[in-house]
Amino acid sequence: MLRSYWLSISSLLLFALIILSSVQCDENIYIQGERLYVFHCGSCHMDDGSGLKNIIPDIRNSRYLDEEIKDLPCLIRHGKQGFVVEDSIIIDMPVNYKLTEYEINNIINYLMTDWEKGPIVSITTTRNLLDECPIPDNRYGQ
Ligand code: HEC
Repeated sequence: MLRSYWLSISSLLLFALIILSSVQCDENIYIQGERLYVFHCGSCHMDDGSGLKNIIPDIRNSRYLDEEIKDLPCLIRHGKQGFVVEDSIIIDMPVNYKLTEYEINNIINYLMTDWEKGPIVSITTTRNLLDECPIPDNRYGQ
């Protein structure tokens, strides 16, 4: 009697654990994308994309995450130069030559899902877009 009681309690617990872990996984399937975003982008644009007033742009409503999404893979790979703010501090967005096409794709899809920006971008699309902006031979940077 006692044995079957413990057996049902432990199977209940196991069931609850399985449910809990699957719920957590469903919340964000682009965990690698999130980690890469926090590491490679969050220090400037902040984890929520709000940026640093007058120095780093707020990217939550950036056209690169919307109508110019096709330019996002190359922007992540090559960065961006020439952003001049009022007090003449010039900061460039750095290149990311060590990120693979899969990693870039995961960052984009993390932003698409977690920030609810739009539909998932396939790896084939990201790969084709990145083919148009190859890493130069004399590569430098991270
Ligand atoms: C060293 C700080 C820095 C880091 C790190 C950085 N950025 Fe940027 N980012 C900038 C700056 C500065 C600009 C504006 C550049 C310009 O307009 O010349 C910018 C521009 C952008 C824009 C375009 C904003 C717009 O609408 O014009 C997007 C999108 C963006 N960054 C996304 C990212 C992503 C994704 C990452 C990580 C892979 C990243 N950035 C990493 C500083 C940074």
